[in-house]
Amino acid sequence: MNDKNLYQLFQDSNSGNIYKWHHYLDIYQDFFEKFRGKPIVILEIGVLGGGSLHLWRNYFGNQCQVYGIDINPLAKQYETNNIKIRIGDQSDQYFLEKLINEVGHFDIVIDDGAHTNFMVRSSFISLYKNTRHIYIVEDTQALYWYWGFYSLARDFIYALTGQKTILKKIKHFVKILCLSILGQLSFTKFAKRHADELTKQWHKKPYGEMCSGEIKEISDNNVSEFAKLTKSIHFYDSLIIFEKNIHSKRVVEFR
Ligand SMILES: C[S@@+](CC[C@H](N)C(=O)[O-])C[C@H]1O[C@@H](n2cnc3c(N)ncnc32)[C@H](O)[C@@H]1O
Repeated sequence: MNDKNLYQLFQDSNSGNIYKWHHYLDIYQDFFEKFRGKPIVILEIGVLGGGSLHLWRNYFGNQCQVYGIDINPLAKQYETNNIKIRIGDQSDQYFLEKLINEVGHFDIVIDDGAHTNFMVRSSFISLYKNTRHIYIVEDTQALYWYWGFYSLARDFIYALTGQKTILKKIKHFVKILCLSILGQLSFTKFAKRHADELTKQWHKKPYGEMCSGEIKEISDNNVSEFAKLTKSIHFYDSLIIFEKNIHSKRVVEFR
């Protein structure tokens, strides 16, 4: 396995174009290092020139299985023996279900696809439960462009041009419209609401007063599935990273 760090491998890379902010690579290094050399499965949404898929393979090593998805059929040309590419829309839940049935689970997912609220939100809802360790949404700055109207316009245009039948166009369009009217479309707000959810079970301080030397295991009856599955949510410049958890009981001790 290569012992260079992710930034060095990015600098050395000559197998296809890669489009990454430098500060992402430093952050990824911290999250990814423990998975190097391990038999992990990584999925990147958004293939473009295929270079980032090669970067993951070089970084994680030969045991790593790399998947890429892209809406552009030309992306298929970047497929190799070790890098599998599937063509489809990241907001198409049936396409993603088919992919999950094929692969089983992902250890790491990086969403570097359409960068619109509806697309990012749809993929997250479909893929998060089948992601074992890390789910990254890149380029969240684009979700704010022109007060969010750039993302909204692209989502509406895609509803009208990307869907095949009139019924599907209407369904897709109405779904985006309703989410937008209800204030549920923004992915960054969705992530912030989920950050609140991580501590929701403690908001009423249910563990009460404790004596010195006492240990209590706190019931997880009120813990949401999301909170059970999630260890942390990290907000960076233009990145949101969800780190997953194998749920362990919460124990509080007064020493
Ligand atoms: C920013 S580029 C990806 C860059 C690449 N990940 C890298 O690091 O070099 C975005 C890619 O997402 C693809 N894309 C756009 N909308 C999509 C959608 N709805 N579903 C899947 N892929 C999409 C585009 O075709 C494009 O190749």
